[in-house]
Parts: sequence; structure tokens; C-alpha cells
Amino acid sequence: MKFGYFDDLRKEYVINTPRTPYPWINYLGNQGFFSLISNTAGGYSFYMDARLRRITRYRYNNVPLDMGGRYFYINDNGTVWNPGWSPVKTELDEYECRHGMGYTIIKGKKNGLKAEVTFFVPQNYDGEVQQVVLTNESTEAKSFSIFSIAEWCLWDAQDDCTNFQRNFSTGRVEIEGSTIYHVTEYRDRRNHYAFYTVNDEIDGYDTDRDAFLGSIYNGWDNPETVKADKPSNSFADGWSPVASHYKKVTLAPGESKTLIYILGYAENPQDKKFASEKPEGLLTRETWVLNKEKAYAMIDKYNTPEKVAAGLDELKTTWNKLLSIFKVDTPDDKVNRMVNIWNQYQCMVTFNLSRSASYFESGIGRGMGFRDSNQDILGFVHQIPERARERLIDIASTQLSDGGCYHQYQPLTKKGNADIGGDFSDDPLWMILSVAAYIKETGDWGILDANVPFDDDPDGKHTMLEHLDVSFYHIVNNLGPHGLPLAMRADWNDCINLSCFSDTPGESFQTYTNPKFKAEGGYSKVAESAFVAALFTYTGPAYVGILEHLGKADEAAKAQAEIDKMKKNTMESAFDGDWFIRAYDANGEKMGSKECEEGKIFIEPQGFAVMSEIGKDVGADIKTLNSIDKYLNCEFGLVLNNPAYTKYYIQYGEISTYPGGYKENAGIFTHNNAWIICAEAYAGRGDKAFEYYSKIAPAFTEETSDIHKTEPYVYGQMIGGKDAKNFGQGKNSWLTGTAAWNMVAISQYILGVKPEFDGLRVDPSIPAAWDGFTATRQFRGDTYEITIKNPDHVNKGVKSLTVDGAAVDGCIVPVAGDGKTHKVEVVLG
Ligand code: BGC
Ligand code: NOJ
Repeated sequence: MKFGYFDDLRKEYVINTPRTPYPWINYLGNQGFFSLISNTAGGYSFYMDARLRRITRYRYNNVPLDMGGRYFYINDNGTVWNPGWSPVKTELDEYECRHGMGYTIIKGKKNGLKAEVTFFVPQNYDGEVQQVVLTNESTEAKSFSIFSIAEWCLWDAQDDCTNFQRNFSTGRVEIEGSTIYHVTEYRDRRNHYAFYTVNDEIDGYDTDRDAFLGSIYNGWDNPETVKADKPSNSFADGWSPVASHYKKVTLAPGESKTLIYILGYAENPQDKKFASEKPEGLLTRETWVLNKEKAYAMIDKYNTPEKVAAGLDELKTTWNKLLSIFKVDTPDDKVNRMVNIWNQYQCMVTFNLSRSASYFESGIGRGMGFRDSNQDILGFVHQIPERARERLIDIASTQLSDGGCYHQYQPLTKKGNADIGGDFSDDPLWMILSVAAYIKETGDWGILDANVPFDDDPDGKHTMLEHLDVSFYHIVNNLGPHGLPLAMRADWNDCINLSCFSDTPGESFQTYTNPKFKAEGGYSKVAESAFVAALFTYTGPAYVGILEHLGKADEAAKAQAEIDKMKKNTMESAFDGDWFIRAYDANGEKMGSKECEEGKIFIEPQGFAVMSEIGKDVGADIKTLNSIDKYLNCEFGLVLNNPAYTKYYIQYGEISTYPGGYKENAGIFTHNNAWIICAEAYAGRGDKAFEYYSKIAPAFTEETSDIHKTEPYVYGQMIGGKDAKNFGQGKNSWLTGTAAWNMVAISQYILGVKPEFDGLRVDPSIPAAWDGFTATRQFRGDTYEITIKNPDHVNKGVKSLTVDGAAVDGCIVPVAGDGKTHKVEVVLG
């Protein structure tokens, strides 16, 4: 069942019922100010950091779900309704939500009155603009009222939802004309404030939540002031400050009125925090006055429909430009829609937010992930390479000089999170991959010389290249008894904790130091990860390529020898006959092996091992891929492991705590499905690659949205596996490495357009049924118009490649570097 449809021309997903199986959200903003907005206008806003600079309040885990956001209430002669249906949930005569690239339009109609609200965060602007167009579509004149509401968060979202003994007494506001200012803690230790305004005179307001609701026993669905059509003009003093505007409107038949609301954020320098005078009409109970210059300028920027239209146009133009860097036209509309619009859009969102704020990530638990953000760059780097560069330097600066990494950092402070710490065995490798991806995209070798400190040597002069060196050797220097990388606290799979296992409630599987391993430095020196081994052999060649380019032949050879040795060790100790084992646990026993009673095969090491060609000479690659098909493939994707664990295996940590079929215990992790898609394409099996791709790509799951539950336009991190009661049900949508990796899988491996150090590789691995496809790729200043022809209906194999009519050997298009458009023609066969 579907709950909407794709409008590809407008690059929107159109939801035509408010009753989606889960709130289907969108993100507004892409630099400083961000908002989450659901199809019923739930959600919240923050500046830069969803934990430390939360602007509006949101209650996760609420019942009913998704209560709280920015709402407009209309009281039309006693009928109270919201344009987005929620929170009052009066049945609407018409409803529609259009989620687009950085904007959302929600339309509701009731009794002949239509309200169309456009929400967006303009480019380079720290505020959410909400344009409300009210139209009387009836034949009679209409008088009604409109209330707005936003509930302020007291800045630190963690503190805001825990520290009530203090917070119920700190809230402060100022009111000037139609603008309500949130100035909690401003005088004392903050230099930032927020405001909510409307571009018209108002007929009343509220700034105290309980006064707005009329009773502490009322919810957002039942505000007394709205029902009574009477604001209480409350002035918040502690408790829960809000901002609500009240406006009476009369419209002749056919007449429209536009109101523009802005929810803004601004910072003042220390010496300009206060205004010298108190303007007339300002409502405050303070002896000081906020300096509002910045807010005035922001309000002035979008206070007319023309200015709003221009801001929205600018946003659309920006997105059209971003999405023209890589565009394809394949025989499959769903592929086109994913590649040209939604997958790239999701890559921007994951790049911006890492795993911090979604409807599954509360914005207070995690900052930016080292592993996560590095992977996000793989799918984003072609869009705005300069931002990727900046991010790489930020991330690398949280690394330690021995190559170890803080697992997460806060975007506001850019400092590693000490409470999570480090020792995740895979972290350093992702940085080699992302820096290489950046260089391959841009040809900017200069990044290697960029001055990038280490967290434990903040003033030292170090280069990015040194970071890559220590990343590579952090693996080499931490091997276990079989010469495989130590598993440490966890690798990519946060729930395989071969050192941090415990049987005491509340001890974190990722950070707990088992007394058993305390003397050894916190983790077992026996437990090894075959996944990290395979990731090392997949990633290592990029490092070698970099050294070779720099003319460091000896260092390159030395690194290559380590890769070769790792391949040998993996084949000797981690190949199980038909696939690669997952790990050796702290007792030296195999995990993910035929010998195990449950969890005999795991997905994670396989794809990277195949792409590293470990044991290819003895057919290990095809055997492995066939085993995946046999044991992990099911209707909705590839499960992570099989059979699911039904018992608790303490030595593995978190993984077997989950019921079978969920999360890392045999759930379908769409993130690592992509690695298998890449591997199948790499091995030349384009049909299989495409089969796996189409099982999980959101546009393909749209038809089963009732089962899938989460948004059909973006990937979720996981889907219930074949052992789950809720087989096929998605969870954790939006913020997942799945976005970047599936972008890589479809664009670089299936469609085969892949930046390399020395040019653009064009080497597709597609369904044999396809006649071909075309693609446009802007690359290092040139534009390549690529035509792929598949007359013999093969999966893979470049028979000929021409650039502007001239034949090229192999499948790498050399960089023209003349800023012109070039025609690339590839014939498969
Ligand atoms: C979760 C993982 C998550 C990790 C780190 C674990 O408890 O299961 O999915 O990545 O915590 O935050
Ligand atoms: C979620 C984390 O964000 C990601 O880094 C990790 O790899 C997966 N969990 C798998 O456990």
C-alpha cells in the first residue's frame, strides 16, 4: 500500500494522508540552522548541534507519537483545525504534504478555507521561514483566527529534559510588537537568543505554555486559548516559555492572505549583547534589554511574499545545481529517482548531521561519528568537495597520534567525546577511504599537506598524510595471534563486543572495561576481527596509491607488503571453505563459522574480501557470494547473519541480546547490503547486484509502505529480517551510512562511474536486460556526457571506450582539464 507518490519533476514526495505508518519527515537547512519536520509539522529546530543548541522542544517517545512541533491552529467559528491535521486531528476536507529538497509544503482545507504552509530554511540564513497562505475558497465571506505556537527548549536538550529543578525557574522572554524573544540565560552565560515573529500586527499572544494550553492537564490537541478564540497575553516567567501569535483574519470569497512567520536564531558578540535603551512598548521584566539588531535584519530579509519566493528560488536553484553534478537516465525510473534525487539528498543530510538528530536519534545521545562521518563523505564528496575537505580536517583533528580515534565528537566544540572514548578497531580505516575519495574526486593532493593536529598534540605541526600513515599502521601494529586485526571494543558492528561483554545491567557494551582485559589495556589481545582484515585489504591500496603518487616508492612497497600479508593471513585463518568467518573471540574460538551452532555466517567481511580478491585464485570470491545468496538473501534484503542467535552468548557482547531478526542479530542492515551489491558488481554479476539493490532501495519499497513503515524516499538503517515477527519492517530512517554506501553501490559499482586518482573510470555492471543508459558527470571542472550501449546484453565488460570519438585503452577516461563538455561512449560486450 502507498501513502503518496513521487513527483519527480518537482523533486518532491507527495504524501496524501496524514496517517502515514510512521511520521514521515524531512530536513530543512544545511549549514547552521536545522529543522526536522514531519508530514504533520511535528519536529524541532536547532543550531549546529542538536544537543547543545536546541531551539525548540520535542518529546521523544511520546504518546501519541510526534506531538510537538511548530503548529498553526485555525479557529473557524468554533471548528478548530490544523493545516497538517495534527495535533487537533480534526478531519480535513483536503490534505497534502510535499517534502522537497530542503523545504516542505503542507496544505489543509476545511469548510472552504484553505491553508498552505511552506516551511524552509533559506540559504545562509539561521532561521526557518514559514509562509502561510490562507484562501477563502467558499462563496461566503469568512472571519476566523489563526494561532501559531512554538515551544522553546532551554538550549541544552539533555539538560532540558532532565534538570527540572533548575529549568522550571530559568525561562525568560521579551516581547516587542509581533516578535517574541527567547532569552533564557542570555544575560548570564550565553550570547545567543531565538525569536519567533510574524510580518503583521497581531491581536494577542502567549509566551507561557500552561497559559496557552489553559491547564496543565491539556495537551497540544486541546489548547484552551484556541478553543475559546482568546489568547491570554501571558508573559512567561520560568516554567515553559513558548511563542504564540494570535491573529484575526477576514477574507472575502476567493480572497487570500499571506502571513510570514520566522523562527530565528542569532548570536551577539560579548560587547554588543545589550541594547543601550529600552524601546517603547517592549515587554520585559528585566533591567537589561537584548540587542536585537541581528533579529531585525533577519526579519527584514524575508518579510514579504516576494522575498520569500526569491529565497525559495535560491534554495531550489542550489539543489538543481547540486543534483546536476551527477545525473543518469536508465531504463528504470526508480533507479533514476534514487540516483538523481533522493539518494543524493539523503547523502547531504547524513553528511550534515551524521547520526545526531532524526526520529530515531534523539540528538542528545550522539554527536558526529568518526566512522560514520568518514563514510558519509563517500556519498557526498562530489556535491560540495570544499565542505568535505573541511569535515575531513575536523574529523582527523580528533585522532590520536598513535592512530587511535575518538569514536564521536560534538560538532559545536569539535572535541572528541571522552565518555565514549576510542578503541573501535575499524575507525582509522574509514579515514583512509574518505581522504582517498576526496582526492579522487577533486585531484586536490594538497590536502595531504594540510596542517592537521592530533587530539593529544593540539599545537603540533602534523599533516593529513601523517594521519593516513598512523591510521594504516594502527591496524598493522595491533594484530592478534592469527595476524588478523584485534577486534578491540567493537568494529563496524557496534554490537559485536568481543572485549566489553558483561552480565551486569547498565554496563555499556561499547565502553565497559572488562576486568579480564584491564591489564592488557582495556581489550582482549586474542579477539580478532576478520571484517577489519578485509576492510584493511580493501582500503590499503588507496593508501599505497597515495604513496606512489607522492613518489614514496619504498613506503608504498612496505605498505603493500602488509596488505599482501593480511590477505594471506585471512585466507589461512579466516576462510571457512565457503565464506569468511567473522572473528575470533577472546577465547580464540571462531565466530561466524560453519563450526558455530548459530550465527554461522555473517555479511560484513564478505564484500570487502571479495573486492580485495582474497583467495580469488581458488574461487573464494564466487563461493562466498553464492553462500550469501544461499544463507542471507530473503524477500526484503540480505540479513546480517544466519541463523539468528536464539541464546545469549556473553562472549559476543550486545549482538545476541536482540531478538532474532532485529538490528545486528540477523536484521537486514541496508548499510552492509551495499557492500555485497558492490562486490557482486565487482565480480561482474550485474543481475545479482541489481536484485539486491532493488530489494532495499526506497523507491522500490514504496509499494509496500504499509509493511515497510518508514519513508519510501530515504533509506532506513535496518529492516526486520526473516527471523523477525515484523519481517520487512523498516526502522531508523534517514541517518545511516546506508545512504552513502548505496550511492556508491549504484553510481560507482552498478552504473560504474567511479572517480579514480588518474581519471574517471567507466565500467558498469548492469542487468543484462538493459540496452544501456546515459549519464552526465561533472568531474574536476569538465563535464562528461556518457553513453553506455549494451548490444550483446551482457552484465559487464567494456569492449570499447571512446572520448570525443577517439579510442581509449582500458576504462579510465583521462582528465581533460579544459572545462569543456566531452562525449564518452562505451560499448559493453
Ligand atoms: C547500538 C548501536 C550503536 C551503538 C553506539 C549500540 O548500543 O546498538 O547501533 O551504533 O550503541 O552508539
Ligand atoms: C550504527 C552506527 O552508527 C554505525 O557506525 C554502526 O556501524 C552500525 N550501528 C552497526 O552496528
